[in-house]
Amino acid sequence: MNTSDLLVDDMGIFDAIYSCRAMRRLQQREVPEEMLIKLVDAANQAPSGSNSQNGRWIIVRDASTKQKLADLNRIGVEGYLIPQLEKNTSLPHQSAEKRSRMADAVMWQMEHMHEIPALIIACMDFGEKVNAQMAAAGAGSIWPGIQNLLLSARAMGLGAAPTTLALGNPKAVKDVLNLPDSMAAYCLIPVGYPSGKFGPVTRKPLTEIMRFDQWS
Ligand SMILES: Cc1cc2nc3c(=O)[nH]c(=O)nc-3n(C[C@H](O)[C@H](O)[C@H](O)COP(=O)(O)O)c2cc1C
Repeated sequence: MNTSDLLVDDMGIFDAIYSCRAMRRLQQREVPEEMLIKLVDAANQAPSGSNSQNGRWIIVRDASTKQKLADLNRIGVEGYLIPQLEKNTSLPHQSAEKRSRMADAVMWQMEHMHEIPALIIACMDFGEKVNAQMAAAGAGSIWPGIQNLLLSARAMGLGAAPTTLALGNPKAVKDVLNLPDSMAAYCLIPVGYPSGKFGPVTRKPLTEIMRFDQWS
């Protein structure tokens, strides 16, 4: 398959940006390997600090590895997110009802993560033993690639979402993925065909988040 054929013909970049929602409910249907490779190839086109190109990507399809990552995600969701979401409070920009729907989707993802066709892990390789300070400083060079991957998934009609809750225990993640000491994992992106429909993202208005020249 020619990878250029994988893109949805009539989707412009702004259509993708404005409809690139976190798609958590995904089908079990297998995603062709060419499409997964295309996602990482697109991620790899992103910029990095000093052009270091230290981003590394692991496409996890093996059932037992997916199960281990799903177990780590469960620990993250149950320990951190559920207590927050159970309060079911609204945010200024997100109603209690919308938050509750998001919580349902996070729970669905927690229960089904091991069944999702591919879990893509965005990592960095620092070339030497990585510490917490290096890992934090490196984040700016991996997230542009993650966003490229998410937009590319959207353009190909695949569902994806950036997640970090499975990665809260770096030692456990290192063991599961057999990472050398020089590597750190930043984001786990479950990828599959979406169960629901894509729709527009809802974000704060520009009047709230933008100023010209100076803030006040
Ligand atoms: C740094 C970061 C970490 C995130 N971690 C998680 C996560 O662990 N689990 C999850 O379900 N979603 C996670 N998300 C997804 C956000 O919840 C989502 O992008 C946000 O709610 C906006 O959703 P929307 O694009 O559908 O409007 C994360 C997003 C970012 C940028």
